[in-house]
Amino acid sequence: MGLETPEFREAAHRIIDRIIDYHEELQCGGVTIPAVEPGFMKERLPNVGPEKKESWLTVFDDFENVVIGGTVHWISSNYFGYFPSGVSYPSMLGDIQCSSTANIGFSWTSSPSCTELETVMMDWLAKALNLPDFFLHNRRGPGGGVIQGSASESTLITLLAARNKVIREELSRDPKQSIHEITARMVAYASRYSHSSVERASKVALVTMRLLDVDEHISVNGSILQEAIEEDRKQRKIPMFVCATIGTTSCCTYDNLMELEPICENENIWLHVDAAYAGSALLCPEYRYIAQGLQVGRFQVFIFISNICGNDAEKCNNENSHVVFRTSRRLILISKSG
Ligand SMILES: Cc1ncc(COP(=O)(O)O)c(C=O)c1O
Repeated sequence: MGLETPEFREAAHRIIDRIIDYHEELQCGGVTIPAVEPGFMKERLPNVGPEKKESWLTVFDDFENVVIGGTVHWISSNYFGYFPSGVSYPSMLGDIQCSSTANIGFSWTSSPSCTELETVMMDWLAKALNLPDFFLHNRRGPGGGVIQGSASESTLITLLAARNKVIREELSRDPKQSIHEITARMVAYASRYSHSSVERASKVALVTMRLLDVDEHISVNGSILQEAIEEDRKQRKIPMFVCATIGTTSCCTYDNLMELEPICENENIWLHVDAAYAGSALLCPEYRYIAQGLQVGRFQVFIFISNICGNDAEKCNNENSHVVFRTSRRLILISKSG
């Protein structure tokens, strides 16, 4: 059911032209939020997929008339989005090029370039953000970035990793405990302004999440965290994970990493930094003070960053197991575990 080569060539040229027109049209202003009601698309499309091959032009028309008709134009400068969204011509070209190879990057052997490109570029990114050396692949130790599919996934993965670490530690201390008993005593912490995905991760991981109050800067600081930990330790609970946020989605405030990091270190707590919303600010030297706690270079620090380059450069992504360049919102995990 594929396209013949001449048809593909024609369609590809037409799509590129359409992309350029779309971008130029957006620069001239216009409506950014479509006037459609929920369920609008069902009325405009057949309720079963076509059984026979349709001409590519029909699909193209559907995209124009149906999909674009219900699209919010996030990249328009007229759209005051609550979340930054960027796309650039280089990233689109990267996307297309990656589609051409359809590589599956399970392991180094399944596509050496996939792994190596990811490794090299994660180091570039760590350096561009001025992260400490232990986030780099080319240093001794477990550091080095990997790309995840979403911020939610990243938080869940680190919470599960932290949970497993605590289970291992607790079992080696007292092998008679059951995993359930240990898990039931675990407590994770985050700001009550953290993204809903943080609380959701705790539900999936079956770990209690304590949403902490904030100070006058709408950030969780050291004393707020320390107090909560002490309360929980008195009740024989196991404080084991802190999710700090660099840029809360609702009001773009920053938790106090400088104070949280040493507490996590002293208390043997896994510190995860959700920088999905505003971590890209670290590209600018004048904003790096927000991540000062990370410079200390101790253990168990993870940072997740998305929206890295906006309109200005390429990004990495492993959607469909590819390492590709693109600019839609992507999450990048740079990690060092203890
Ligand atoms: C701070 C923060 N964390 C996590 C997320 C969740 O991102 P995703 O949809 O990629 O899972 C968002 C999304 O808006 C966010 O702003």
